[in-house]
Amino acid sequence: MENSIITKADIPSVSGLFNKASLHDATFIIFGATGDLSMRKLFPALYNLRVDGLLPDDFKIVTVARSNKTLESLLERFKSGVQRFSRSGFKEEIWQQLAERTTYVQVNYGDPQSYATLKAELGMDKQDNAQRRYLFYLSTPPTSFNVIIEGLGKNGLVTPAHHNAGPPTRVVFEKPFGRDLSSALELNALAHQYLDEEQLFRMDHYLGKETVQNILIFRFANAIFEPIWNRRYIHHVRITAFENIGIEGRGAFYEEAGVIRDVLQNHLLQILALCAMEPPNSFEAEHIRDERAKVFKALRHLDASSVGSDVSLAQYAGYREEDGVDRDSRTPTYASVKLFIDNWRWAGVPFILSTGKNLKKKMTQIEIVYTPVPLCLFKENDVCMKLEPNVLTIRIQPEEGISLRIGTKTPGEKEDVSPVQMDFDFNQSFKEKAQQEAYEKLLLDCLRGNQTLFARQEEVEHMWHFVAPLLDGAQDGSIPMGTYEPGSAGPEVKP
Ligand code: BG6
Repeated sequence: MENSIITKADIPSVSGLFNKASLHDATFIIFGATGDLSMRKLFPALYNLRVDGLLPDDFKIVTVARSNKTLESLLERFKSGVQRFSRSGFKEEIWQQLAERTTYVQVNYGDPQSYATLKAELGMDKQDNAQRRYLFYLSTPPTSFNVIIEGLGKNGLVTPAHHNAGPPTRVVFEKPFGRDLSSALELNALAHQYLDEEQLFRMDHYLGKETVQNILIFRFANAIFEPIWNRRYIHHVRITAFENIGIEGRGAFYEEAGVIRDVLQNHLLQILALCAMEPPNSFEAEHIRDERAKVFKALRHLDASSVGSDVSLAQYAGYREEDGVDRDSRTPTYASVKLFIDNWRWAGVPFILSTGKNLKKKMTQIEIVYTPVPLCLFKENDVCMKLEPNVLTIRIQPEEGISLRIGTKTPGEKEDVSPVQMDFDFNQSFKEKAQQEAYEKLLLDCLRGNQTLFARQEEVEHMWHFVAPLLDGAQDGSIPMGTYEPGSAGPEVKP
């Protein structure tokens, strides 16, 4: 800030998001370890954390599942996951460091004896482990969460932090947290019998993406956008998460989840909250979570008429023929909803959230579409007709970056205007700095006990409340189910 009229003291500083507390020895216990997530995301993330020297010196990984597997066969699978999906190149030596710290325990989720075996394997009663962090990661289908929490709680593998009994324990829930409002309430109540809220980490990996975290940095590290971040200047906002892949053999899972539970209820609503929230008092976890929750609280509930006009659900052609999918399935693979946030800042501004599988290209982005100019000053009518509004596009993935569409003079005699892009490209600007994968950041935050990027109980409940009419309407047929061609742009939705 040299030569500046502003001194550091003029800007009160906030902290929290990037808090680097030191790490204690830790054991990761992965339930549902035979599933895809361990192979595609968790092991590659642990591998990269090891490459970057970010894991505690003494860490262990205990993989848990119901089936009778050998550790060797599992390690083979995890190794291939690291080779295929890790962002940093494969090094046998680093892999060996993970492999030799990994064990497997077969657990029957409803059987107390299984938990006794697991507890012994974890060495939780040993004095040496009194300060060790035990991180239980539930990557099973959500239908198993209750029985596992009960098993962990009743058998003393987790205890409420305020009891100060036993080593520190935390539980991470892979999303979705429940399958509707009532099951989420039930799961919350059950989890609170055995754990304090500070020990519960409700995962939404979108919050761990660098570009999603950058929404707050962009809004609150730049003075020029905040004054025009409201209903007076913004005409509408589009949040889009399209994928070009289908359900990839996960038919049974997807039939249960559908696009509403899989992406809309969590990833898209969390992005919405970051775009729409008020500035927090600081970047401390609870301040950020408070502001996100206020957005969810202010969501206008969809009634029969808005569901009819503002919601579009569809399946890609061929979905019902996929393995594990019901031939009469009413599970949507595409959803789009126009919603409103009933607060002072956003009154009357439509937010259009759209997401789907098997579309033309993978693309997650936010478009802030500004109000048009109030008066056209150009003489030629065709120039006025051509004027396009300013659009600020925040590209979450791929081609991560931010661009602003502005109107500019087209060179030449004629008074003409063309839209052009001012562009910031993450990868160009930070060539040397590889982006940390979302799961790396979030696993580390669980170890550090930083809950900023995890949903708090009330957030989850508000989100379920909001999507309830969509889930009901999809099932009872009151919302028509359209179809779209795989590889297409999906149904069109107007603001
Ligand atoms: C997951 C969903 O949460 O997010 C998947 O279960 C989806 O169905 C995935 O493909 C998308 O994540 P990303 O990080 O690839 O955008």
